[in-house]
Amino acid sequence: MRPKIIAGNWKMFKTPEESKDLINGIKIKLTVPLGNTKVIVCPPFTSLSLVQALLTGSSIALGAQNMYLEDEGAFTGEISPKMLRSVGCTYVILGHSERRQYFNETNEFINRKARKALSSGLTPIICVGETLEQREKNITDQIVTTQVKGVLREISSSEVENLIIAYEPIWAIGTGKTATPAQAQEVHLLIRKIIGQTYSWATAEKVVIQYGGSVKPENSRELLTQSDIDGALVGGACLKAESFVTIVENAILTSKK
Ligand code: PGA
Repeated sequence: MRPKIIAGNWKMFKTPEESKDLINGIKIKLTVPLGNTKVIVCPPFTSLSLVQALLTGSSIALGAQNMYLEDEGAFTGEISPKMLRSVGCTYVILGHSERRQYFNETNEFINRKARKALSSGLTPIICVGETLEQREKNITDQIVTTQVKGVLREISSSEVENLIIAYEPIWAIGTGKTATPAQAQEVHLLIRKIIGQTYSWATAEKVVIQYGGSVKPENSRELLTQSDIDGALVGGACLKAESFVTIVENAILTSKK
């Protein structure tokens, strides 16, 4: 059975001092056994070391929000997979819509970074999703298919089992508008079918597909009960320990069913 994976994308929030408070709050509030649920926090680069130290002995994993595709070199302002590993990261978010929108990241570039992450021992959380305009034009399937095929290019079937796809409709990110559980499930199933056609159905069944976009304690339970929704990538609601932990608890409850 696929695990449920809840990841908190802290985005460009939290100084080291604030990060300390948030992670301590999560640790104090998260008292139930995780079971088949995994929890990941993705603070900004400047808080990674500190959060890693505070996570010692806990089962919460550490992720970054981006990386470059070389181990080292003259790439001013970039952070390498080797550096992320050295501070204890095991996950990295790649191709978030904000990276695509503000930093012009393409499927091809995201694919190169995903391959580098996999060969560096990092599990990439690769984001895909359509804009409101694309949804209204009824081209969501086409857009998501192109994105999924593009980001998975030249990734082997054994590797694809070790990555996470996050479906994040752009119109639902930070807007308070969530895809309905049925709308999300439909795209998740499409993504699983694309993976099934590209690899095999057995492989597709193993891939974790998270939903992201205004996930909150109130809507998380219903979203997480959908058969192809295997977790959540949480933005706004992960910045408060209480709401993040409630979402994790809902994931634990739904994975017991
Ligand atoms: P949100 O962000 O939960 O604030 O909508 C999700 C994301 O961008 O990963």
